[in-house]
Amino acid sequence: MASVSTSSCSPFLLLVLCFSLSFQSTHQSHHVISIDSLFPKCSSSKGTKKLIQSPSTVEIHHKHDPCSQPTSSSSEATKSTQQLIQQLLDEDQSRVNKIQSTLSKKKQDPLVIKKATVPVQSGRSLGTGNYVVRVGFGTPKSDLLLVFDTGSDFTWIQCQPCAKSCYDQQDPIFNPSNSKSYTNVTCTSQLCGPKLRSATSATPGCASSTCVYGIQYGDQSFSVGFFGSETITLGQDVFPNFFFGCGQNNQGLFGKSAGLLGLGRNSLSFVSQTAAKYGSVFSYCLPGSSSSTGTLKFGSSPYPPAVKFTPMLSRPDGPSFYFLDLIGISVGGYKLGISGSVFATGGTIIDSGTVITRLPPAAYEALRGAFKKAMAKYPLGKPLSILDTCYDFTGYSTVTIPKIGLFFSPGIEVGVDPSGVLVAASISQVCLAFAANGNPSDVGIYGNKQQVKLDVIYDVGNSKIGFGPGSCS
Ligand SMILES: *[C@@H]1O[C@H](CO)[C@@H](O)[C@H](O)[C@H]1NC(C)=O
Repeated sequence: MASVSTSSCSPFLLLVLCFSLSFQSTHQSHHVISIDSLFPKCSSSKGTKKLIQSPSTVEIHHKHDPCSQPTSSSSEATKSTQQLIQQLLDEDQSRVNKIQSTLSKKKQDPLVIKKATVPVQSGRSLGTGNYVVRVGFGTPKSDLLLVFDTGSDFTWIQCQPCAKSCYDQQDPIFNPSNSKSYTNVTCTSQLCGPKLRSATSATPGCASSTCVYGIQYGDQSFSVGFFGSETITLGQDVFPNFFFGCGQNNQGLFGKSAGLLGLGRNSLSFVSQTAAKYGSVFSYCLPGSSSSTGTLKFGSSPYPPAVKFTPMLSRPDGPSFYFLDLIGISVGGYKLGISGSVFATGGTIIDSGTVITRLPPAAYEALRGAFKKAMAKYPLGKPLSILDTCYDFTGYSTVTIPKIGLFFSPGIEVGVDPSGVLVAASISQVCLAFAANGNPSDVGIYGNKQQVKLDVIYDVGNSKIGFGPGSCS
C-alpha cells in the first residue's frame, strides 16, 4: 500500500498526526522533547515491516501520510503546513459539532433518502476518523483501505457503477457484480427498517425493490447507496453475510480510503456483526507518527498486567458512542482541582475519529492555567483555529513540557504521550493540543491525538475500556 512504501517526503502534508515526538530524557513530571521531533520524518525502512501478528490483527496507518505520494489535488500540494493544520482543525470541529448536536437533540435529523440520488454538493466537512485499515470484500476478495471509526456504526464502501458519484480512492472501486457472494438486501427485509435507520440515523429508501441507505457525517459528507450483504475477510477470518453499504453517491473527506468501518455499538456495527467470533472485544494502538504502523485487533487476548480498566458507560441519547467517566486531569505530576460535576455535566466519550480532545470549559481553563505556568519561560505564539495556547519556539532546540495525565473512574491515570501534548504548525506556532467545549453541558471527547501509543481495549461485552502502555510507536 502506498502509505507504507516511501523514500521521499512530500512537504505538503505535515499534518497534526504526523509528529513523532521522541523524548530524549525524562523527569518525573516533565518531558524534554527535541524541536526536530515536532516535524515529521519519513523513514525509508518502514516498508519492510510486517506487523500482522495474528489472524485478527490488521495494521493501522494515518489517513494523511506525509510520506506517501502526493494526492491528485494540486491545490493541496501548494498549501502551507499552517493552512493544512488549520483546515484539519476546522474539520475536526465540524465532526465535534455533529457529535454534540446528535447528543443534545432528542430527535434524529430527518434525512429521508428516497432514491440513490441525493444532491451532489462539494463536501468540505470531515466526518471520518484519521486512521485506516485493510479489509477484504467479496469473492474473490478485494482488499480495501477503510477509515475506522468508533464514533459511527455503519460500514460502507464505494461501489461500482458509482451511479451518482465516487470520490478518488487508492484501491480499485469495488464491483459487486464481480463478486459471487454479494447480494442486495430487499426493501421487504426486516433489516431495511428501524435497524438500518438506527445505524445510519436516516430512514431507509427503496429503489427497484433494493433497500437504499443514506448516512451523513458532517455538514456535507455522506454516502448513499444499496444496502447489501457480502463476505468480508479480516486477516484469516472470514465473515459471510456481513451487512454493509454499497455506496453509489459518496462525498466528503474520506481521504483516499474506499469507505468506512463502523466500530460503534449499534447492532449493525462491525463489532456487533462479528460478535460471535470476537466476543465484542477489540483494541487498537494508534501510531504516533505516519512513519510507524499501529494495530487494530479483534477478539480478546490475555491483557498485560499494566492495562488499567475504567467502566464503559452507555447513554440512551447516544447509543452508538462509547462513554467513559473522566474525573480529573494532572499536569506536571499534580492533579488539578476540578470539581467532579464539571466532567459529569456533559459526560465524556472516547472517539477514534476526533483528533483534539475536547474538555468542559472549566476543566480546559484549569489545564491551560497549569500548562501555561509550567511553560512560563517560553514566549507565546499566535492562536491556531480551536487551539488558543501556542508558543514560539524559535531558537530552541529542545523544550521541556509538563506531563499530562487523564484520570478515569475508579481513579486510574492514563498518561498522554509527549507526542499528544503539542501540535505544531510551524516553529513559531506550537500549540497545546486540547480545546474547550463552547458549553459546559457539551459532551467531552477523548480524541485520537491524546490516545497515540496507548493500547486501548474496548471490552464491550464486559462494559469496560482498558488502557495500557502501547505496543506501537
Ligand atoms: C442491486 O440492486 C440494484 C438496484 O435495484 C441493481 O441495479 C443491482 O444490479 C443489484 N445488484 C445485484 C448484484 O443484484
